[in-house]
Amino acid sequence: MVLMQSYVIEGGWPLKGELVIQGSKNAVLPLIAAALLNEGITVLDGCPDISDVDKMLEIIRHLGCKAYKDKDSIIIDAASVYCDEIPEEMVKSVRGSMLVMGAMLARCGRIAMNYPGGCMIGERPVNYHLSAFEKMGAEVRYVENGILCTCTQLTGCTVALPFPSVGATENVILAAVKACGPTTIINAAMEPEIIELCRLLCIMGADISGIGSKIIIINKGISKRDVQYTVMSDRIVAGTYAYAAAVTGGDICCIVNRDDIMTGISVLCKKMGIKLKYGNDYVRIISGGKIRSIPYVKTEPYPGFPTDMQSQLMSVLSLGDGISVIEESIFEKRYHIIGELLKMGADIHSKESRAYIRGVKSLKGAVLDVKDLRGGAALIIAGLAADGTTTVLDPGYIGRGYERIADNLSELGGNIYLA
Ligand code: EPU
Repeated sequence: MVLMQSYVIEGGWPLKGELVIQGSKNAVLPLIAAALLNEGITVLDGCPDISDVDKMLEIIRHLGCKAYKDKDSIIIDAASVYCDEIPEEMVKSVRGSMLVMGAMLARCGRIAMNYPGGCMIGERPVNYHLSAFEKMGAEVRYVENGILCTCTQLTGCTVALPFPSVGATENVILAAVKACGPTTIINAAMEPEIIELCRLLCIMGADISGIGSKIIIINKGISKRDVQYTVMSDRIVAGTYAYAAAVTGGDICCIVNRDDIMTGISVLCKKMGIKLKYGNDYVRIISGGKIRSIPYVKTEPYPGFPTDMQSQLMSVLSLGDGISVIEESIFEKRYHIIGELLKMGADIHSKESRAYIRGVKSLKGAVLDVKDLRGGAALIIAGLAADGTTTVLDPGYIGRGYERIADNLSELGGNIYLA
């Protein structure tokens, strides 16, 4: 059953104050998958309270792990893990569930699961993951609606990715830490969430070099250890609140636990006239008033401008002082919000992978439908900046990645509540 949530927003209130940014969704999901490799206890601190995490825990429990939450910590005991099939309802809405494949192949030599879901922002094939597993010696069979992967022993090799896929890089790393011989990933994704995964695996005993670069070399080495790790702050969540502060004429301080949290986002903030100030554990975002338009920006793998901020950027630029052009180069269906922003009086059209945005003086409140996680956050940003009341109808996407977003925004002075 779909639980519809309505965010009711009265626009025009500047965001002000301080907010501790939640742990990163896209970091914690691979860390939970990594816990499957450790026969000791894995404790992850600073985890976000979001539904994707709950679903990922359900999956690893199904595979035999003991996993429970204690405030913002997750404690995982993967001493005994079974090679069971993962049913469709467990994987259909969480993209990160695919990462269980690399970890289970390494740990048990067998995994059967349905195709992973996640937001429908493009085709999202998993061919890079599967051909890498095959190259490492696994047998991949396509069974009804799903995939069966088996191996007797994975063998290290060179995996050259056709594109720096985040998920494929993580999956190969997870599989490689128990493979025989070194594995070299060429054209690896360099996202900070991958660095997090490598760091945790190294604490578990793995030997990984080239962490954070395009070439990663992984050697076997996981042993039974009790480990503890604090998940990085969510850079996309920080960016989302930064944009919300910028369009409302606000001034907020995001408390974060890594210093490179705004990489990929900060250059564009400056171009839009948004001021950023950094401290040891925070970034302060000060609105520069009217948003300056961006003549051209393209989403790119890290350290480029992230696709996960593209929808939020579109909301901001819809109030820009001129014409902006966004090119979405990672996912082919990530313009769901255009129709919703048009209801608010925005002037946007898209052609193939480009969106053309002519800034308008103001947006007006409307009733909006959420069709994906980041699009939902973007519509909330638009509602905070709009004149009048906006109702954002969400069948559960926003809570997959944003913890207490309505509470956080109202604590910052936004006029928003969940109905
Ligand atoms: N691709 C393939 N074949 C593959 C794998 C990827 O063709 O086997 C293509 C995809 O279709 C896409 C591109 O490569 O066009 C990049 O996809 P990638 O594999 O990097 O994305 P992902 O691992 O599925 C993660 C995040 C996404 C984020 C992207 C890009 C998680 C759980 N998800 O997805 O996060 O947009 O990387 O940075 O880490 C979100 O948080 O809202 C979100 C969608």
